[in-house]
Amino acid sequence: MDIKVRVWRQSGPTAGGKMVTYDVKGISPDASFLEMIDVLNETLILNGDDPIAFDHDCREGICGACSMVINGVAHGPEKATTTCQLHMRKFKDGDVIDVEPWRAAAFPVIKDLVVDRSAFDKIIQAGGYITAPTGTAPDAHAAPVPKKDADAAFEAATCIGCGACVAACPNGSSMLFTAAKIAHLGLMPQGQPERDSRVIDMLQAQDDAGFGGCTNAGECTTVCPKGIPLSLIGRLNSDYRKAISKR
Ligand code: SF4
Ligand code: FES
Repeated sequence: MDIKVRVWRQSGPTAGGKMVTYDVKGISPDASFLEMIDVLNETLILNGDDPIAFDHDCREGICGACSMVINGVAHGPEKATTTCQLHMRKFKDGDVIDVEPWRAAAFPVIKDLVVDRSAFDKIIQAGGYITAPTGTAPDAHAAPVPKKDADAAFEAATCIGCGACVAACPNGSSMLFTAAKIAHLGLMPQGQPERDSRVIDMLQAQDDAGFGGCTNAGECTTVCPKGIPLSLIGRLNSDYRKAISKR
């Protein structure tokens, strides 16, 4: 495949940025999107140009690092897929593909396609933990958990912290991420001691980090590569109301 990519180039956090067009020739339809950028970067390096900076790590959909907006959609055109698991066969020969970083006030650009997502760490630090002593692994049935709750907690725990939900939200809100973390812990018996303080503190950290509020636009769940459902935001709001009423 021969394609053109228009990539956001920005040399540093305070530099101005712009879209730069590159020709990429002879790409296999079976290459991943990141492999296509690797090939482009090899050409840039051989020509003495600055390669495109982008985040990546596992390249198998589990670390959440590969944040890119492709043709205006966080993680690109394939549903429930991270950028590293998106393949070039989703595009056509001759396509022009726009590639940009996450755009959100709480995720400032560091360079090119790399953004600073440490705001997510601040939300986790505020309450994404339990204080129950863990020790060695207990018997699986030592603390019975209803199957329905275990399944829902597991579903919430699949959030990989990629930030696509924030990038897609017109308000730059992190509610789906925060809701997933709160549900993941709050559905389990071990997560009950901090259930009230967790929701209050994590929402405060979210506001302090500069994320916007949720207006139920629903864009977040549409782009979430792990299918985290919007209903978890409803669950968060319910937890928050109960926690506040006890103060
Ligand atoms: S909720 Fe989905 S989109 Fe948001 S950080 Fe988690 S995995 Fe990524
Ligand atoms: S590189 Fe880890 S999820 Fe894409």
